[in-house]
Amino acid sequence: MSATTETVRLETVFDRTAGPDAAIARLTLVNDTNRRIGPFELALTSIVPLVPGEGSGVRVVERVSVYHVVAGDPAFVLEPGAALELGPFTAGFPVRHANDGPSAAYLVDLAGNVLAEDVPRAQRRVLTEVEVAPCATTPEPGPAPVAPPARPPDGPLVLPWPDRVEVAGESPVRRWALAGPDGFCEPEWTAVRDLVARLFPGEDERLLAAAGESADDRAGVVTVVRAPAGTMAEAASRLRFDGDAVEVTVAAAAGLRAALVTLAQLVRAADLVGGPGRVPTSGVIEDAPRYEWRGLHLDVARSFRTADEVARVIDLAAWRKLNRLHLHLTDDEGWRLPVLGYPALTDIGAWRGHGRAVPPLLGSGPEPTGGSYTAADIAGWRRRADALGVVMVPEIDLPGHGFAALAAVPDLRDPDDAGGYRSVQGFTTNVLNPGVDATWPFLRAALGAVADLFDPPWIHVGGDEVPAGAWDGSPAAGRWAVEHGVSGTDGIAAAFMAGVVDLVRTDLGREVGVWEEAAASGALGPGEGYVVPWQSSKECRDLLAAGHTVVAAPAERCYLDQVSDDHWTTPGLSWAGAVPLEAAHTFDPAELAAVGGVGSVLGLQACLWSEVTPTAERVDDQLVGRLDALAERAWSPPGAGDLDRVATLASIAPRLARTGLPA
Ligand code: ACM
Repeated sequence: MSATTETVRLETVFDRTAGPDAAIARLTLVNDTNRRIGPFELALTSIVPLVPGEGSGVRVVERVSVYHVVAGDPAFVLEPGAALELGPFTAGFPVRHANDGPSAAYLVDLAGNVLAEDVPRAQRRVLTEVEVAPCATTPEPGPAPVAPPARPPDGPLVLPWPDRVEVAGESPVRRWALAGPDGFCEPEWTAVRDLVARLFPGEDERLLAAAGESADDRAGVVTVVRAPAGTMAEAASRLRFDGDAVEVTVAAAAGLRAALVTLAQLVRAADLVGGPGRVPTSGVIEDAPRYEWRGLHLDVARSFRTADEVARVIDLAAWRKLNRLHLHLTDDEGWRLPVLGYPALTDIGAWRGHGRAVPPLLGSGPEPTGGSYTAADIAGWRRRADALGVVMVPEIDLPGHGFAALAAVPDLRDPDDAGGYRSVQGFTTNVLNPGVDATWPFLRAALGAVADLFDPPWIHVGGDEVPAGAWDGSPAAGRWAVEHGVSGTDGIAAAFMAGVVDLVRTDLGREVGVWEEAAASGALGPGEGYVVPWQSSKECRDLLAAGHTVVAAPAERCYLDQVSDDHWTTPGLSWAGAVPLEAAHTFDPAELAAVGGVGSVLGLQACLWSEVTPTAERVDDQLVGRLDALAERAWSPPGAGDLDRVATLASIAPRLARTGLPA
């Protein structure tokens, strides 16, 4: 990076010679400006917590999760052109990838240059933002892994791979026109044509004619036949090719939409990839999904995605025949849902930044970062999702992961809580308190807002990662525990979540989804709602053995926030190890139910947590390819499909960022 006269740079080198679990960071601030800066304190965010080592001359002034403000003794000062070495710091988690280190930083002081120890964040003044260089490592990383060659396989290019493909021939058709019958199929035809128009602007004219428009020379003719009642599953379809014509037999809208996506995929790949046998002239494609629940989970709490981006994620799911979008709307780092009577949730809890109740985190800098959704945004998503057969599953994460809510609505805290816990992400105030009077009206309002705005069949209520000792310092929680005959973190969490489950099922009349902890604790019983086991396959097996209805998302297969390989510069988290394309594509949830299982696998879900995906481009990096692989596992027969085809189709797959698409 060339030095400018305006920049202060932060360079980080992790020494991993003693292993990634014992990584030591050395930070260097370089003053490329022509002015003296200081005295100052350094504010930074990172993925791993950084703890100043003995004798480093550095002390922590403030830490909230991965927001750190550190001061020097003597105070930090930077002369023009000078470099200042800070540290060593010990990494609080194993360091395996460059993105684990600092990703945003700035320098602060107080008005009047009084050092800021014990001074509230709001009174510190931002001196300058710091340019953060990519984190380096010793020893040097090895070569990047070689990507497998993606030779396009011959034949139809469809993803997910259908149940039965027996086709031949090579049609020049590159576009489809609808011959009828009138009425029955037009809403679905229009929905898929609109989908194609949004995903591939300009290609819709090429791929699907408007309903009612007659066929031109290059168009194949589609005739839709309704299957007699009871002869086909809802999402099933049969495509019979005959020259330039195709007869599509379906029983219901879901099957028709899926069949039309197949037809659009066929001509699109013929156009963009080319090769032999892309659009058949004879034979049959029979199709039906393996699993009822084919999910994508998206965390819009840690990294906000605009309403338009969320709408596009519905499209990305539908193109891959996924039919559930689980929206993680609240977490420590941000609250995104409007709740009547609680404007602070979105006015305060949706925004991070210097001096705010929620500080900069996860690479956001001092400027305000965040946002929330309106009722109109959500109504727009629902219209789109309904048209495409995608069910939105909103989540309010309870009782933990509540830092932003508690920062925005202080009445939710027990004023006498002496605290003493720390969540796995490093928050010390992030658990709702069942003994505080304001809590239950708040829960009714928040979950009621979810029910009103989304009108969902399921509300996901979280239940994950309650920190040990969460309520030990709270007299109000202690009294509540005695009244309810429970004790300890697990006992209180189970009783709290049982109350939340009851609220959703009895008062709101919706079914419930939870993360594994809430089912393991008994808050959600077997046969009630569904559970998403996430830490590993072991939790999937345990919950199936206990009789639960499971949407499988074991991290080592389904967590797409995890790195795809072990190379230093590959971005992502890595607590579950690397999740390469092969790991996603070879996942078979049925294997988890093999021994003694009495529960059932409803389906599977790809999960994208957003600690390391602040931009749409980064979302694409994590999703494209591995999401295609999991979509195939959710839809196709076990073992069907192949990686070369997944890789080929991933190269032309629609993305969230509209860059990188073929012209
Ligand atoms: C989770 O990943 N905490 C559900």
